[in-house]
Amino acid sequence: MYRNFSFIILFFSGFGLVYSKELANVCESYDGYFTDKNTNPECFYDPDLDANVEQRAVNHGLLAEKHYIRTEDSWILITFRLKNLNGTYGKGVVFLQHGLGTDATSFTGNGNKSIAFFLAKQGYDVWLGNFRGTDFSSSQNLQNKQFWDFSYHEHGLYDLPANFKYITAKTKSKIYYIGHSMGGSAIAVYFSTKPEEALTFVKYTTFLCATTYMRHTKGLLNFNIINNLYALLLNWIPQAVLTGLGFTNISGLESMCFASRENLRVCTRLNEYVAGSGVGYKMSPEKFLLAWRAIKNLGVKQMLHFAQTIHSRDFRMFDYGPRQNMIRYNSIIPPPYDLSKLPTNITLIYGANDYISTKEDTLYVFNKYGKRNWEVYEIPYNHVDHFYDYKYADKAFFPLLLKSINKHI
Ligand SMILES: *[C@@H]1O[C@H](CO)[C@@H](O)[C@H](O)[C@H]1NC(C)=O
Ligand SMILES: *[C@@H]1O[C@H](CO)[C@@H](O)[C@H](O)[C@H]1NC(C)=O
Ligand SMILES: *[C@@H]1O[C@H](CO)[C@@H](O)[C@H](O)[C@H]1NC(C)=O
Ligand SMILES: *[C@@H]1O[C@H](CO)[C@@H](O)[C@H](O)[C@H]1NC(C)=O
Repeated sequence: MYRNFSFIILFFSGFGLVYSKELANVCESYDGYFTDKNTNPECFYDPDLDANVEQRAVNHGLLAEKHYIRTEDSWILITFRLKNLNGTYGKGVVFLQHGLGTDATSFTGNGNKSIAFFLAKQGYDVWLGNFRGTDFSSSQNLQNKQFWDFSYHEHGLYDLPANFKYITAKTKSKIYYIGHSMGGSAIAVYFSTKPEEALTFVKYTTFLCATTYMRHTKGLLNFNIINNLYALLLNWIPQAVLTGLGFTNISGLESMCFASRENLRVCTRLNEYVAGSGVGYKMSPEKFLLAWRAIKNLGVKQMLHFAQTIHSRDFRMFDYGPRQNMIRYNSIIPPPYDLSKLPTNITLIYGANDYISTKEDTLYVFNKYGKRNWEVYEIPYNHVDHFYDYKYADKAFFPLLLKSINKHI
């Protein structure tokens, strides 16, 4: 009788043990994804994978507040501010701004080595911006076909100033700005268009793999076939239609990637063809899904503006074609953004293996526009390794960032 009873207890506690353990969702090898993940010792449960910014913050001993910020042209953008569990904020405002196709979650995808959490743990007051068009933005005043009618021009002239006004009013403190990729393009637009205004908000700027001139872009983004396709599209489809298009959900691609080992290999190579590959760090298989899911919202006009930037070898306003340009800009060719208006003190960080924002283009900007207190640094990364690397983070990347912030904040 007692024996039977203990058997039942044993049975149920065993049952509980199995089911209180979360199901493995990532693997340390790509092959692992095609095995039974729950019995494969290479696979484990990453609580961050399906978590949003707020949940990830909690997973790493922090809280994320949401702030609703209105732009001058009536978009509502959600900006996150990290705080300690005891409700206190850090000191020294650091504002992180994401790049194309992603949002603030990109700064939270590397566990306790996520840029956002790392800086908050170092004691800084970390804010994370979200551009219009992301999951953290809305605009009631727009018709569907106007929704995607923006590029890094609008990010720089509306989204950033709205954030800066709000944050400086709230904290009574100027901002240390870190812009990754298009986050750098946007602040370059702001500085080149309204330099005095920008300086009232921004104490210091770090361009992290930022894109301005894209004369040496390599890999998939510079395939002629893609650029020709854009040209073809522009000839055959009215711009008004193109600039009204965007994608918000590319998650269907994920099941395609995982349909077979061969497909997955193509998907993982895609990261290298687009973002860059070479010596140094390679994204680890357990980060693949985090990285893949960080790509979400893409506006066609944003992509067109970048294609034009690559094609024209210039950093200039959106090209609407000669007739429209004449009406909008009073010039057949779109006006360039004047990088000589960038501040006297900035830092440029480029990845040695970055195909998108290349070493050559960074040095071109540095040599052409550099002022007395400009600094430039190389790290062994491609375009997105900052978000997923464990190998060089403590050696190459974070010390550089900390030194710069401490010096300039
Ligand atoms: C709140 O937490 C932070 C981070 O753990 C700590 O540095 C700070 O001293 C705490 N402040 C108070 C008032 O408890
Ligand atoms: C950071 O995360 C890693 C991996 O999850 C863990 O091994 C390490 O102990 C954590 N470090 C801190 C300081 O929390
Ligand atoms: C995106 O599409 C997938 C199917 O491909 C669907 O399961 C998911 O719910 C969609 N997500 C959103 C936010 O609409
Ligand atoms: C950078 O330069 C601007 C304008 O010249 C100045 O206002 C600002 O204080 C400087 N920032 C630092 C950290 O030196």
